[in-house]
Amino acid sequence: MEVENKSIIIDIEPLSRRVTHLVDNSLYETLIKLNIPISSLCGGSGTCGKCKLLIQTGGEYFNQPTTNEKQFLSEEDIKNGWRLGCETRIDEKCIQELEKITSPQFRIYLPNESLLEDFKILTNGLGKGIKLNPAIKKIFLEVLKPSLKNPIPDVERLIGSILNKDINYKNKVPITIDFNILNELPHILRENNHKVTVILHNNKITACESGDTTKDYYGIAFDIGTTTVVGYLINLNNGKIYAVDSKLNSQTAFGEDLITRLTFIKDNKNNLQLLNSVILKDLNQLIRNTCKEANVNPSNIYEATVVGNSVMHHIFLGISPVNIGLSPFIPIIQKALNVKARKLNLNISKNGNVYCAPIIAGFVGADTIGVILSSNIEHEKELTLAIDIGTNGEIIIGNRKVLIVGSCAAGSALEGAHISDGMRAASGAIDSVKIDTETLNVFYTTIGNKDPIGICGSGLVDAVAEMLKSKIITRSGSFSKEFQNHSRFIKKDKNIEFILANKDETSIKKNITITQNDIRQIQMAKAAFYSGMRVIINDLNKKLNINQVFLAGAFGNYINASNAKFIGMIPDIPDEKIFQIGNAAGKGAQYCLLNRDIRDKAQQLLNKIQYVEIAIKNDFQKEYAEAMYFPHLNLNYFPNLKEYNNIPKR
Ligand code: FES
Repeated sequence: MEVENKSIIIDIEPLSRRVTHLVDNSLYETLIKLNIPISSLCGGSGTCGKCKLLIQTGGEYFNQPTTNEKQFLSEEDIKNGWRLGCETRIDEKCIQELEKITSPQFRIYLPNESLLEDFKILTNGLGKGIKLNPAIKKIFLEVLKPSLKNPIPDVERLIGSILNKDINYKNKVPITIDFNILNELPHILRENNHKVTVILHNNKITACESGDTTKDYYGIAFDIGTTTVVGYLINLNNGKIYAVDSKLNSQTAFGEDLITRLTFIKDNKNNLQLLNSVILKDLNQLIRNTCKEANVNPSNIYEATVVGNSVMHHIFLGISPVNIGLSPFIPIIQKALNVKARKLNLNISKNGNVYCAPIIAGFVGADTIGVILSSNIEHEKELTLAIDIGTNGEIIIGNRKVLIVGSCAAGSALEGAHISDGMRAASGAIDSVKIDTETLNVFYTTIGNKDPIGICGSGLVDAVAEMLKSKIITRSGSFSKEFQNHSRFIKKDKNIEFILANKDETSIKKNITITQNDIRQIQMAKAAFYSGMRVIINDLNKKLNINQVFLAGAFGNYINASNAKFIGMIPDIPDEKIFQIGNAAGKGAQYCLLNRDIRDKAQQLLNKIQYVEIAIKNDFQKEYAEAMYFPHLNLNYFPNLKEYNNIPKR
C-alpha cells in the first residue's frame, strides 16, 4: 500500500484542535508542523523523554512502545496509554484498516509538562497577546497602626497604605471604599496586627481580608447558552484555567428555543423570576463543581464575567426580555454592566463583581461579542465568515474594513432534538459516519467507543453528506427510489428509513435510523446558516466572496468541516481555509476576566459592528428556499464539489 500522503484526523486536547496527521509522520512531527511547541531536548530522537502524551482514543492503531519509550515510561504508564510523541506513529499493519473507519478516530491529550511555557498559558486560558491585567486587584498591606500622635481613621490609613504600595493608584481617580465593609474593617485590621489583603475593583475597595491571602485570587467566566452553560474557573495570579464544568441549561425544561421561553415569560409575570432562579441555580452549581475540583473556596472568586445571547443575558439579570421577541426586537440595555454578585444571588465573594459583556441587538448578544473578541476577526485581511453553531446561530462576516453580524434560527436539530434517534454529544452517540458507496455498508464511530444509543450533530452532518455521496438521497433531500429495496432500508408507517446501526449493534436493541424528517431538519439548519450568510453578503456587496471560515461553538469544533461544506452549510472554500476555533464565546468571557482593557474593546466594537435583521430582508425567503437544496439550488456557488454532477436533483 502507498503510505505516502495517507492521513488521519486527530483531536488534540486540551487545545480543542482537530488536525490532519500524515500516517508516515510521528505524532511529534505533526505537532511541530502545526506550531504546537511540544517539549523536547533531543529534537525528536527519543532520548530526552520530554514529549510525553496520552493517547485517549485509537491507541491500537499505533506502533508498539519502543525501547526508548520503555526507558522513560513505566509499565503502568504504557498500559494507560502514555507514549513519547517522537516514537509514536501509525503501525504500518493498520494502515489498510484505517480505510474503514471515519473521523474522529483519534484523540490525544498533551499534559501541561509537555507543552512549552507560552503555549501552556494559551491552552490554559490566557490567549495569545492577552496581558494579565484583571479589573480586580488583590494587594497585601502592612497598614500603619493608629496612635495618639497619629490618630488617622482606619479607612484613611488603609488607603494611604495602598497608595504607598502601588504607585499605579497614585495618579488615578481617588480610591473609595464599599460602604458594606466599613463595619467589619476595624476587626479585620486588628485581627492580624494590621496585616491585611485588600481587594479593589477598579479604584474601589470591595473587600478586606485578614493576613496575606494574595495567593487565593480567582475569577470565573461563564458562557450562558440557550442549551448549555459553561463555567471556567481561572486563577487570576497566572491566568490559568483551574477547572471547567458545563451542564444543560435547566431552562430547557421550559422551552428548547428562545421564542418558547419568551412566550413563557410573557404568559405569566412570575415566570421571569422562575427562569432567573433556574439559571442562577445552574451557575451556582458550576461554581460549586469547579471550586471542588480545584480545591478553591468560592469566597475567593472575586469576579464573574458573563457572555450569552441577549435573552439569556436579560433572564440572568432578572430583567424582562419580552420586547426582544416583539418587533422591532429591542433589548432593555446594550451597554456592558457591572453588578454586585450578591444582588444577583451568585455565590462568589459577597462583594464580588459580575461583569456582563455588552450585547449587540435583540438576537445577537454578548456571546457574539465574545466570538469577535477571541477570534479577532476584525483584524483579518481576508473576508471571513464566523458562525457560532448553536440553537440560535450567529453569523459574523468581517475583516479589517467591515464587521457585520446577524442571527439565524438554526433550530436544535444539530443538538439532536427533533431527530428520530437524535441525542446530545454524549457517551454512545454516533459522532461520525462513513458509507461505502458500492455496498451501502455503514461505518461509524461513537463517543467513548460505546455501543450506539443515538446520533449527535456531527454524526448527522456526516450521515447526510455520506447519503448524498452514495446517492441514497437526492439534492432536494428525498430518498432516492433506486435503493429502496436495499436491506439497509425499512418501512415504518409507510415511510422509508435508512438504517445506520442495526439493532444487534446498538445498546438500545433497536435500529438507529435516518428518516425523511431527520434529513429535512438538517436541511433547515444548514439553510438557515447559508441563507443568513447570503443575505448579509447581498446587503454588503453581491460580488464579495468569503475567503475563510471560522467554525465556533462546541459543535463547530467537532463537526467534519469538509462534510459541513459538502451539505452546503458553509461556502465552497478550500478545507485549509476552514478553522475550527472552539468555544470562542466562552474564550471571550475569559479574556474579559483576564484583562480589563478587553472590556473597553468590547464596548468600542459596538461602534464598528453593523447589525442585519436577516429574517426581514426581502431576499431572505428566496435565499432560504434555494439553500434547502444540497448543497444549494445554484451549483455555481459550489463549483469544487464535483460529486454533485452525478447526484440527481430530485
Ligand atoms: S522529543 Fe525527546 S524523547 Fe521525544
